[in-house]
Amino acid sequence: MDRGEKRPKLLLTRKLPDAAEEAFAARFDCQFNPEDEALSPDNICKAADGCFGIALTSMDKFNAGLISRLPSSVKIIATVSVGHEHVDLSAATAKGLIATNTPGVLTDATADIALLLMLGAARGAHWGERMVREDRWPGASMVTPLGHDVSGQRLGILGMGRIGQAVARRARAFGMTIHYHNRKPVADEEAAGATYHAKLEDMLPHCDFLSINCAMTAETRNLINARTLALLPHGAIVVNTARGGIVDDDALIAALQGGHVAAAGLDVFANEPNIDPRYRTLENAFLLPHLGSATLRTRTDMALKALANLTAFAEGKTPPDRLN
Ligand code: DGY
Repeated sequence: MDRGEKRPKLLLTRKLPDAAEEAFAARFDCQFNPEDEALSPDNICKAADGCFGIALTSMDKFNAGLISRLPSSVKIIATVSVGHEHVDLSAATAKGLIATNTPGVLTDATADIALLLMLGAARGAHWGERMVREDRWPGASMVTPLGHDVSGQRLGILGMGRIGQAVARRARAFGMTIHYHNRKPVADEEAAGATYHAKLEDMLPHCDFLSINCAMTAETRNLINARTLALLPHGAIVVNTARGGIVDDDALIAALQGGHVAAAGLDVFANEPNIDPRYRTLENAFLLPHLGSATLRTRTDMALKALANLTAFAEGKTPPDRLN
């Protein structure tokens, strides 16, 4: 861009890693949020006045109401996340807005957290850590506390996209047998020997572990519910790095309380950060605060991917990760 040329104005709803903010500042006239405070819909509309685009995050709910009120200067909304259920794509399309996301760059970080959840939930890492930290370790015992094996178990993956496949690759290193359910079977080299189940109901009885890796859509909302949980073998372990809304909390909590589900590892919840408080009371729930993509490199790469989409748009090109 020539010196002196007026740079397009952009709103960033939340703070991003420093290196990413520097790259944004080099390309656009940016309105940053240095305090990293959640902006109300009113404040988003005010701050976006005159901006051609908005870089938002999965914490910002761009529903039909907010989208309809956005200033007419706004032409593109770029979420710094792969999940985009917080953006009403129909409303965006109706208003003539382009929406983009950031697939690909958070695959490994999220798959790593899925394995952490499997190991943590199965082996009781959370209660073990608390016992040591709180000086409640009674000493060695052969019979308590005992966890569950991960190695050699059967893992069912709900959603065999990039992240599901990355979870499968890691799980194979633990000698796990992989099953998956997806709308369609993936290519042989992507399945790498995993068994495809066209119906979720057919896969669940084979799952010592169930890893939820599908997108949150109208079809997947509450897909893991009392009926589907009942199809898991007794003592199965459920982990979720996708979205909380895919799980019916009442059903999972009842299954954890009753022991049909031996343990759960959850990184995502309905209504974050105000999670169902009953989870906090369950010793067999290993809980993380949506850390799936939370590494400096990954968050920086996500932000730079959003920047690439915004830059392409500003240059009159089709953004590479266009959603609508
Ligand atoms: C994503 O990118 O969807 C992660 O869950 C972070 O929100």
